[in-house]
Amino acid sequence: MLRLLLSMLAVFAGQSLQAGPGQHAVASAHPLATAAAQEVLAAGGNAFDAAVAVTAALGVVEPQGSGLGGGGFFLVHRADDGRSVMVDARETAPAAAHPDLYLDADGEVIPGLSLDGPLAAAIPGMPAALGHLAANYGRLSLAKNLEPAIRLAEEGFPVDATFLQMAGFRLHALRDGADAARVFLREGDLPEEGEAIVQPELAATLRRLADRGPAGFYEGEIAQRLVEGVRAAGGIWALEDLANYELVEREPVVLHYCGARVVSASPPSSGGIAIGQMLHILAAGGNRYGDDEVDRVHLLVEAMRRAYRDRALYLGDPDHVDIPVERLLSMEYASGLRADIDPERATPSTELPLDPDAVPGPVPPAIDSESEQTTHFSVMDAEGNRVAATITLNYPFGSAFMPPGTGVLLNNEMDDFATRPGEPNVYGLIGFEANAIRPHRRPLSSMSPTFVETPDRIAVLGTPGGSRIITMVLHGILAIVEGAGASEVVQARRFHHQYLPDRIEYETAALGSRVQLELARRGHALSPQIRPFGNMQVVIWDRQRDRLEAASDPRGNGSAAVFTPVPAR
Ligand code: GLY
Repeated sequence: MLRLLLSMLAVFAGQSLQAGPGQHAVASAHPLATAAAQEVLAAGGNAFDAAVAVTAALGVVEPQGSGLGGGGFFLVHRADDGRSVMVDARETAPAAAHPDLYLDADGEVIPGLSLDGPLAAAIPGMPAALGHLAANYGRLSLAKNLEPAIRLAEEGFPVDATFLQMAGFRLHALRDGADAARVFLREGDLPEEGEAIVQPELAATLRRLADRGPAGFYEGEIAQRLVEGVRAAGGIWALEDLANYELVEREPVVLHYCGARVVSASPPSSGGIAIGQMLHILAAGGNRYGDDEVDRVHLLVEAMRRAYRDRALYLGDPDHVDIPVERLLSMEYASGLRADIDPERATPSTELPLDPDAVPGPVPPAIDSESEQTTHFSVMDAEGNRVAATITLNYPFGSAFMPPGTGVLLNNEMDDFATRPGEPNVYGLIGFEANAIRPHRRPLSSMSPTFVETPDRIAVLGTPGGSRIITMVLHGILAIVEGAGASEVVQARRFHHQYLPDRIEYETAALGSRVQLELARRGHALSPQIRPFGNMQVVIWDRQRDRLEAASDPRGNGSAAVFTPVPAR
């Protein structure tokens, strides 16, 4: 009777309420974080409690990817009322930030200033997100959900190969900061694989968060230590920056493609809009992009090129800039872009108009693929609540700066702003006024946590990978729409184009030799990459087959689990 009433209500609300999958599923970039989710789910928590536990645990055991000193986007869906929302915990520029922050007296960008040390750090959103999710969506207390992370910080976690690779890559920056070096290095050098990293100060900060909620971070003793540490080392944070940090709940971008409903990140992420533009360009040709692999890659690349051009021109913090969302996502606009694509010839990016005032920097640097950090997890609980979260410190180990006595590694998200109009950031992405540095602004992001909902299946997905996140998620969406399972989605080979640099970057196995030759003949520059792209985490609930599956990208060291809730005694 109750079920009948619910389904009548659902029809009335224009939604389709479903019973949940009856099992829990989680996929994250670290087995200890996946175990943290399992622990709180087994304790009676829901997907949102699991999200808090995974986020906090990842910040301890994968410090190169995310942490309390960073931010991110949590795409959440509540099963009981069918509501999807994006919890925007993106960092904000401190009040003293200004457009010339990283320029010398001649207006030249000072190398490294937006990447290393406290001047690179924006005001973190992560502690606010943990408190918000627990208080508004979870079933357990924040303190309960933080228990696994506190334990991992106190008892230590074993160093793995990825940690060593990233710490090696950021060794100079880590050596520059006394506290970060003390925690993550051994007398200035890398620890041995398997050695334990113990973080008592981070444990104490997490305990304060557990006891007092976000105020335990943004106010009082921790805030004092953060600001003093930042200012003593040349940064510009003030206590008010922390006290005034505001998390925002935003409507996600909702798209329709080939019978699927795609829900993705809205600005200040560029993900949802760029994905929407690319899907619409494909749809503008009746969803036909050729039976031939070359035609398919060519069209996808041309769609990517155009979406990233618009990213550079129009996207930024929606609370500070007017973004022409409706136009960018209209089929009319997409049809115009599609009509402009020559099926036989690559469009040089220089032929795609930029604003006359928008002059891109001279030669965008190659993306340093070692710098692909950030992290993602996907979770769904037995009732069908779900979270896709992409969280970050930006570069590996963020700014590599840890204010003394906090255990908190700070982000370097300020580099995601256009440090100067047309100046490429560390991922080679350019931006202009829409993403210029201003006090309190959120820097434009590429993080794209996403849901794909088809009549039969619901998928939760996302990946780290800097500027390539958006195109990797696009590949994931297309695979899911075509019926791929979770393992297939995470294993699929990936290619990418981002307008500038004007070249197709691809995993070596992603394009066969005939495809490469033909793409080159059409005028594409090809750039094979030895290092793999991304670290995708996917959960798929197949309602038709009553099957729940989870997969963690074989490119990373993560783990996925599907398990049945233990009935309460
Ligand atoms: N820091 C990378 C991003 O937000 O896209």
